[in-house]
Amino acid sequence: MSRRVLVAYASKMGATAEIAEGMGAEIRQHGHLVDVLDVRQVRSITKYDAVVLGSAIYTRRWRSEAVHFLRKYADALRTRQVWLFHSGPVGPHADQPQAMPKNVLRLAERVGATPAVTFPGRLELETAKGFLARRMAVTELGGDVRDWDLVGAWANDVAEAISSVEISSWPRLEPHLEEIPR
Ligand SMILES: Cc1cc2nc3c(=O)[nH]c(=O)nc-3n(C[C@H](O)[C@H](O)[C@H](O)COP(=O)(O)O)c2cc1C
Repeated sequence: MSRRVLVAYASKMGATAEIAEGMGAEIRQHGHLVDVLDVRQVRSITKYDAVVLGSAIYTRRWRSEAVHFLRKYADALRTRQVWLFHSGPVGPHADQPQAMPKNVLRLAERVGATPAVTFPGRLELETAKGFLARRMAVTELGGDVRDWDLVGAWANDVAEAISSVEISSWPRLEPHLEEIPR
């Protein structure tokens, strides 16, 4: 069954935006109608049945526009399927799941979403923004460690879950959410 899906992202240097695009492409393959948008471009979520929200992580925090999105649309998100992801870890510990910032955790609980899944990120000189990012990019932290297979597999699971949920059963979605590997 085809659904309307929003994949919204908050990204400073473009890496998370590209992950969101990759997810959108995967979810489209399941026949869903997908918009992939910077969270700052979103004016309303009423037309969407499901929302995937992702943020880049900076100094253990989510980008403020992603937090703003969660807060602004909390009531509408409560009655929709919601999946969260964040992207950041680079360098030798790129495969380490990152903790959700406390403010995001509280908002995730409020909208009934399970904790965010972590995807490795990218920190390269060509795309780095700001002095600190450029400095970090030439250390062992530099490189593009995004795992496209992992992104595709997760988006595939999300798409299948979106297909399987009856609209009439929303917002009692917990059993379906638990089926998705985190
Ligand atoms: C100043 C700075 C701080 C960062 N802090 C974190 C962090 O706390 N946790 C993390 O996992 N990644 C951190 N990163 C890595 C970024 O999240 C990573 O480069 C990410 O892919 C950037 O996403 P974007 O291109 O969508 O902005 C940091 C990067 C910079 C430049």
